[in-house]
Amino acid sequence: YERKDVKIAMLPGDGIGPEILNEAARVLNALDEKFEMEWADVGGAGYAAHGHPLPEGTLKLAKEADAILFGAVGDFKYDTLERSLRPEQAILGLRKNLKLFANLRPAILYPELAGASTLKPEVVSGLDLLIVRELTGDIYFGQPRGHRSAPDGAFEGAREGFDTMRYAEPEIRRIAHIAFQTAKKRGKRLTSVDKANVLETSQLWREIMIDVSREYPDVKLDHMYVDNAAMQLVRAPKELDVIVTGNMFGDILSDAAAMLTGSIGMLPSASLDEDNKGLYEPSHGSAPDIAGKGIANPLAQILSAAMMLRYSLNMGEQADRIEKAVKKVLADGLRTGDIYEEGTKRVGTKEMGDAVVAAL
Ligand code: NAI
Ligand code: MG
Repeated sequence: YERKDVKIAMLPGDGIGPEILNEAARVLNALDEKFEMEWADVGGAGYAAHGHPLPEGTLKLAKEADAILFGAVGDFKYDTLERSLRPEQAILGLRKNLKLFANLRPAILYPELAGASTLKPEVVSGLDLLIVRELTGDIYFGQPRGHRSAPDGAFEGAREGFDTMRYAEPEIRRIAHIAFQTAKKRGKRLTSVDKANVLETSQLWREIMIDVSREYPDVKLDHMYVDNAAMQLVRAPKELDVIVTGNMFGDILSDAAAMLTGSIGMLPSASLDEDNKGLYEPSHGSAPDIAGKGIANPLAQILSAAMMLRYSLNMGEQADRIEKAVKKVLADGLRTGDIYEEGTKRVGTKEMGDAVVAAL
C-alpha cells in the first residue's frame, strides 16, 4: 500500500499573490508530508498569459486537484477590460464550476495583536470565531427580480426595484452539514443566525437547522436573530464560536467580524463544496499598492494553507503545527508593516516565511 501524494493547485494570481503564495509553499514543504504542487496562472496573470482570467488549463487543474490554494486577483491595469475578462471573474468562475457553496471565514485575534483592533483589548484579545456563510443562494440570486412599475400598494405606479429571498431545503441542509461538521472540529457550539421572526426563508432555515442537529448530538445548537448577532459581535464577540448563516447576513457579519481584528493581513478563508473539497485564500485582495516590494504579510496565506490541511486534506495535526508556528513568530515579536507596533521587530514577506519555517 502506497499513499498517493496529495495534489494541490497553486494559483498565485496578481499583485502580492505570488509573493505570499511562495511563502505558503515553503511552509507546506517544511512539513513531513509529500505534496504535489502544480502552479497555474489565474486572474490578471491568466489574462496576460492566456487571454482569459480563468484559463482552461487552470480550471482543469483546479478540478483534478485535491485542494486549491489561491493567492489574490486584481490590478488597476485590467480595470478597462470588459467584465467577463476582468480578474475577479476567475474567483466567481471557480466557485461556480467547482460548486463551492460554503464560505468559511475565521476571525482570529492573537493576543499579541490586540492593539490592532478598534475595540478594547479585553473585549477582543484572543478572539477566535468562525463564520460559515452560504454562498450560492439567498436574495443575491433569487428570482424573480428586476425593475417595474409598482403593481399595487401605497406607491402603485411608481418605479420600484425588487429582489427575492429564496432558500430551498437541500440548499439549507448542505450548508447545515458543513457548519455542524466544522463546529464538531472546533468548540462543539453552533449559532445559527436568521430573522425567523419576520422572514419565511428564515423559518425554513431554522426548522432545517434543528432537524440536521439531530445527526450531531455532540454539537450544541442555538439560534440568534441577525440584528442581535450584529450587536453581540461588537459587545462580546468571544462568546461566539461558529456562526452559520445565509448569503446576505453572512456577507455583512463576516466583514464586521473580520474588522474586529483590525488586521486584514492575518485572516484566511475557505470555500467548500459538498465533499469538503475547497479553495483556500486570504480574506484580503491583491494589494497592488505594496506588490513587488517584499513587504506583504504572508500569514493570511500561510493560515489558509493550514485551513486547507484541516478541512480538505484531513491533516488537522499538521494544521495545528502551522498555527502554533505562526503564534510563536508573533510571540517572538516579528511583524510585517501592516501589523507593526513600536517595540516589535519589522520584517519583510520572506523573513516572516523563514521564521514560520524555523518555528515548525
Ligand atoms: P486589498 O485587500 O488588496 O488591500 C487593502 C489594503 O490592505 C491595502 O492598503 C493593502 O496594502 C493592505 N493589505 C492587504 N493585504 C495585505 C497583506 N497581506 N499585507 C500587508 N498589507 C495588506 O483590497 P483593495 O485595495 O480594495 O483591492 C485591491 C485589489 O484586490 C482590487 O483589484 C480588488 O478587486 C482585489 N481583491 C481581490 C480579492 C480576491 O482575490 N479574492 C478580494 C478583495 C479584493
Ligand atoms: Mg463582503
